Amino acid sequence: MRKQIAAANWKMNLSISEASILLDQLAATSPNLSEHQEAVFAVPAIYIPLATQKLDGLNHFYVAAQNCHPKANGAYTGEISAPMLASIGVKHIVLGHSERREYFNESDSFLAEKTNAVLSEGSTPIFCCGEPLTIREAGTQNSFVETQLINSLFHLSEEQITKVVIAYEPIWAIGTGKTASSEQAQEIHAYIRSVFATKYSQAIADQISILYGGSVKASNAKQIFSQPDVDGGLVGGASLIATEFVAIINALK
Ligand code: PGA
Repeated sequence: MRKQIAAANWKMNLSISEASILLDQLAATSPNLSEHQEAVFAVPAIYIPLATQKLDGLNHFYVAAQNCHPKANGAYTGEISAPMLASIGVKHIVLGHSERREYFNESDSFLAEKTNAVLSEGSTPIFCCGEPLTIREAGTQNSFVETQLINSLFHLSEEQITKVVIAYEPIWAIGTGKTASSEQAQEIHAYIRSVFATKYSQAIADQISILYGGSVKASNAKQIFSQPDVDGGLVGGASLIATEFVAIINALK
């Protein structure tokens, strides 16, 4: 079975004491994950050591970064590289979140470089894609997302692409309380998988985990995750509440 993943994206939230309380609550509930399941916590970079310490010993729990720079080192003030993250044990890195694409002008080609940097550390990129509302209203979301994938990922080898986790996040559903219906999620997830099947092979496409993101919460996670091509979620707001996120972890297939 493909990896089923509940990934928390804390974004730029919480003080260190709030982060500490949330991590303690998560660790205390510690859901039992099976071999094919993972819980991933993309916390603000300065809380990575704290999260690593608090979640230590929990099976299939991983601390992640929300971003990295494509270069390994150098004069890039304020940035953090994939090898630096690997050196502190962080092997999952969210790339290309729509907020970074929009507010920090991250382009498809820049994200291709970041993906290469993460893969060359043997780490896992959680690569975000997804359309804005205008594109959804025009009904052209499939080709919009396909272009994002082609431009940033199609240069990868078969072996590399199976190491990438995709997070499909329709921008109109992020932080808005509006969720794609489980049918809408299934439809575009199946399309994304078919894009990889056409470029690589069905066998390769079947190995790629595709997460849904956008207003996932305890009350809708089970239904969304039950769709055949939805392999978990990337969760913002609801990941800041321990009971909500634990319920989301427990909703994994
Ligand atoms: P949300 O955010 O769950 O708050 O909608 C999801 C995300 O941006 O990853």
